[in-house]
Amino acid sequence: MERLVETEWLDTLSPRDSCAARSRSDIRRVNWLMGNVDVLERLLRGARGSCRIVDLGAGDGTFLLRLARRLAPCWGRTEAVLVDRHDLLCAQTRDGFLELGWTVESVQADAFDWLAGQGTGAGTVLIANLFLHHFSEEQLRSLFEMASSRCIVFAACEPRRKAIALTASRLLGLIGCNAVTRHDGPASVRAGFAATELSALWPQGSDWELREDPAGWFGHCFLARRVVEG
Ligand SMILES: C[S@@+](CC[C@H](N)C(=O)[O-])C[C@H]1O[C@@H](n2cnc3c(N)ncnc32)[C@H](O)[C@@H]1O
Repeated sequence: MERLVETEWLDTLSPRDSCAARSRSDIRRVNWLMGNVDVLERLLRGARGSCRIVDLGAGDGTFLLRLARRLAPCWGRTEAVLVDRHDLLCAQTRDGFLELGWTVESVQADAFDWLAGQGTGAGTVLIANLFLHHFSEEQLRSLFEMASSRCIVFAACEPRRKAIALTASRLLGLIGCNAVTRHDGPASVRAGFAATELSALWPQGSDWELREDPAGWFGHCFLARRVVEG
């Protein structure tokens, strides 16, 4: 399947639109079905020395909160940063981070602009969930270029561009997903990734260890970890 990046309906709707709100709740179920929290937890298990985790395209922050609950026992006090075009963090989700002893900041910004303004990223882990597939190869190359000098670990979980995932995405109506999600699901799979496509876009060099694999039936995961000398 050729990779095809299309505009997703959710990205065209106001965050106050009821169909957008409903679609974000569908995405929570899709994340659960894909097992994306488990995937990112596995990828980040070995990420020692981190004190800040940034979710690019974080949505309402509930995905990072679920992940934070898994990581908190090993990670200790951590700063969570949610970067999204929309500020969707609600009081309940904010309290969830605070209960873990974490701090949380919601940044309403374009992820590219935000990254461009960041420093060296010592102790920073960048994650992306169902986000990278929004972008062309050229845009991803530029995102990865910036990310590679601003983090110690970059981990992502995205749709897998594969027939079985496309078929499953066409059945999202069966679990009650609305028209927006029924459009965006298949579009996300067509814009998803396969083989080592993301690794090929990460800046070349020996100071990064890369891993890219299928994740479950429908997912595709990518990990870039800075190699620490000695
Ligand atoms: C499919 S949703 C996934 C949300 C979240 N990661 C999750 O799994 O629940 C993609 C998110 O990316 C955000 N987004 C799209 N393009 C963006 C950009 N250039 N910069 C920041 N956020 C962006 C959208 O607003 C949306 O919240």
